[in-house]
Amino acid sequence: MHDRRQIIRAAIAAPLACALPGWARAATPPTDDVAMARFIAGLPKAEFHVHLEGTLEAEMKFALAKRNNLSLPYADVEAMKRSYIYHDLPSFLKIYYDGMQVLLTEQDFYDLAYGYLSKAASQNVLYAEMFFDPQEHLKRGVPIEAVIGGITRARADAAKTLGIQSQLILCFMRDLSAASAMEALDAALPYKDKLVGVGLDSDEKGNPPEKFAEHFAKARAAGLHVTMHCDVNQENTLGNIRTALVDLKAERIDHGGNIVQSPELVALAKSLGIPFTVCPTFSGKVMDDGQPINALREMLDAGLKVSVNSDDPAYMGSEYITEVLVRAQKDSALTPAELVRIERNAFETAWIPAEQRDGYLARLDAYAQSWDLTA
Ligand code: ADE
Ligand code: ZN
Repeated sequence: MHDRRQIIRAAIAAPLACALPGWARAATPPTDDVAMARFIAGLPKAEFHVHLEGTLEAEMKFALAKRNNLSLPYADVEAMKRSYIYHDLPSFLKIYYDGMQVLLTEQDFYDLAYGYLSKAASQNVLYAEMFFDPQEHLKRGVPIEAVIGGITRARADAAKTLGIQSQLILCFMRDLSAASAMEALDAALPYKDKLVGVGLDSDEKGNPPEKFAEHFAKARAAGLHVTMHCDVNQENTLGNIRTALVDLKAERIDHGGNIVQSPELVALAKSLGIPFTVCPTFSGKVMDDGQPINALREMLDAGLKVSVNSDDPAYMGSEYITEVLVRAQKDSALTPAELVRIERNAFETAWIPAEQRDGYLARLDAYAQSWDLTA
């Protein structure tokens, strides 16, 4: 007899529902776990909050360490994975930055990006905007051409071979100096045609968004889009969201769940049409007066433009977007229509030309209709 979790896993891994002939498709919206998993697996998706270095799986870390003649302080992949224990943003970041030390050559960055893109394409992600942290690589003497060059080559190959489109967002590491972030931006600007935007990540404590006002202004003047992490439950979290929206004119907020604690900021974000990239695995719970509240549920109910994303899947149980959505569906009681809405929000707010967007939305609509849902 099959275990129910096995059946759900099989449904996730099954051929995509949208690739099935009409007679084989479900004619009614999914009503049980297995149908829901199949529905989520086949759903056309976009992902905007994924750190490429956070997709560096332990297996690949060992392979790259070997190729680069580096030794790792773990006996094997399992021991490495067991060391991924963290309880807050700083303790997570320590593991994350340690892990990326094996990335040294253009080929390493190619392999990293191609690995993520193949995984994403296999989960029906049609389009991704991916973060990377150049300062951490420049610190180790890796030239920016190797970082951006390897990722760009992987994006082109993945588009050709797997049909997945993607773009790249350079993140400033907010816990390093403003001068270091400016050096990274200046090093990257000659390759600005390979970038779609800039972001802000790493440890928020003591590093408010205004520390990078000049950087965002320069990036914007160079034609780049602007997004910013506002991690959940941070010091002055609502103040930082306000600064990001009002003073720095962020076009998007990454995480940002605490906004539900301020009706005034919710109204502002809605009036500006700001999208939020929520990552339920890492930032699903907002602490409100000592009580956890479900950020995704509250943000959807508040009418915010929310997408669901995987953040750093290699460090979060290797759960990529389909697994994240399956879990979020249960934890946040998402209806099939809300799942379609989440992907519609994503495609509507992607930094892409209108024609590309219309194509994705048409595929999403067709998929929703094949399950007897209106998109
Ligand atoms: N770097 C990688 N993931 C991050 C996150 N969720 N928040 C801040 N910095 C990060
Ligand atoms: Zn993040």
